[in-house]
Amino acid sequence: MTAKVYILNGPNLNLLGKRQPEIYGSETLSDIEKKCTIFAKSNNFEILFRQSNAEHELIDWIQEARFDAKAIIINPAAYSHTSIAILDALNAFEGTVIEVHLSDIYKREKFRHHSYTSLRADNVLAGHGPAGYLMALQIVASLIKT
Ligand code: DQA
Repeated sequence: MTAKVYILNGPNLNLLGKRQPEIYGSETLSDIEKKCTIFAKSNNFEILFRQSNAEHELIDWIQEARFDAKAIIINPAAYSHTSIAILDALNAFEGTVIEVHLSDIYKREKFRHHSYTSLRADNVLAGHGPAGYLMALQIVASLIKT
């Protein structure tokens, strides 16, 4: 069976490419999705790539992933710093969780240094730009193979 991996993106990431490019770069979320899809195809797994500005929708997708996903790669965006509800949902997921941030949250404003969701993450990749998503997929691919 082909392994399924959810790639979830939180609020304002729909504006990537237009939003503060000096921090988040010029690639759009759709550019990142294309690269992830190519990677997934060549590594023989299926990805579900989604974005929402709504906390409840992200939680619903994390709950959905419980049924058949091997891993969740998530950029919870600002919800990282506020959402115990997303942390709780991730805690109910039994597979691998990798948290991705385009920017290096540890070198930015103090309120971004703490991430609730990272308490559940098996890995946190921050500050690698869009490559962080591919690095996360690389980790997942090697875990699936072993
Ligand atoms: C972000 C970092 C968060 O602090 C911020 O709220 C975002 C994006 C990142 O990818 O660098 O929206 O998660």
